[in-house]
Amino acid sequence: MPSLEAVKLTKKYGDFTALSDLNLKIEGVKCVGYLGPNGAGKTTTLKIFTDMIRATSGEALINGHSVHREKRAALARVGSLIESPEIYPSFTPREALGMIAEIRGVPRSERKQKIEDAVSEVKMEEWIDKRVGKFSKGMKQRINIAAALLSDPDVVILDEPTTGLDPRGMAEVRDIVKSLKKRDRLIFMSSHLLPEVSDVCDEVAMIDHGKLLVYDTLANVTSKFSGSGANANVVEAGFSREVDGVSTIKAIESLPNVLAVDRIDSKNLRLTIKAGIEVQEQVLSDLAALRLGLVSFRPSSSALESTYLNLIKDTL
Ligand SMILES: Nc1ncnc2c1ncn2[C@@H]1O[C@H](COP(=O)(O)OP(=O)(O)O)[C@@H](O)[C@H]1O
Ligand SMILES: [Mg+2]
Repeated sequence: MPSLEAVKLTKKYGDFTALSDLNLKIEGVKCVGYLGPNGAGKTTTLKIFTDMIRATSGEALINGHSVHREKRAALARVGSLIESPEIYPSFTPREALGMIAEIRGVPRSERKQKIEDAVSEVKMEEWIDKRVGKFSKGMKQRINIAAALLSDPDVVILDEPTTGLDPRGMAEVRDIVKSLKKRDRLIFMSSHLLPEVSDVCDEVAMIDHGKLLVYDTLANVTSKFSGSGANANVVEAGFSREVDGVSTIKAIESLPNVLAVDRIDSKNLRLTIKAGIEVQEQVLSDLAALRLGLVSFRPSSSALESTYLNLIKDTL
């Protein structure tokens, strides 16, 4: 079974700790999202896993082999996309991938087949002999993913593969990433976009300020950490005036069916309330009756989103 493991992984850049005592064990055929805001330490982690940089302490293991001490064995079955340089525009995918295959030591006799397989996996067969200069960013990124697939890896590491693409390019790349699991692979994909991770991945590891916050299935993270689960809803209420005074928040908290009140900013609150549309209706009318200047009341995009925000908030 493919696996990735971080053991007390720490990375310091001078005095600054980018990654702090990260412990994470991922095993099996699945897609795991590595979710965190910009600067969280995602790229740092993925670079350590691919031996582009060295950890200050701790260890990264792939398929049970230490990336640092047994690089060859650890990386033999790994394909990665981290900060890929632009493909030279006058090359075709076949030419560009041919060079990469050669550099990586794919035997000459296997190259043609491996290149065609990888290109078909990213659904670019029709473009294999066209010049890359004419491609959209999304198409170029699909070729970069094909490059990661050249050695038919069982662990695929992707660093924010949709960043910088237009919405259509993002959707195309997400579809490709979803399909990569079919060949018994473990996919580890970083992203700062929660909706992307919940669309593409089976599990999520959340990181912020170099610390792992949680690693679990999407479903478990949603129900365990939102403090709500199936029995509660999260709504966001907006006001025309400041409502973050202690007495105002206390007044809202003491309304029937209100379970928790969190401040988003001085004029916006996140309310966890009991589930049910009647409850929503009643809380809305109670809230309006407090005459605090209520101007909006809408369900929070998802319980997972509030989980993400709550977890990140606690580390600020
Ligand atoms: N080479 C470096 N030297 C100094 N600081 C760095 C270096 N690389 C990254 N950092 C810092 O480490 C933190 C984590 O960076 P990174 O791993 O790139 O985060 P992410 O990929 O989650 O956005 C950031 O605060 C970043 O500024
Ligand atoms: Mg990054």
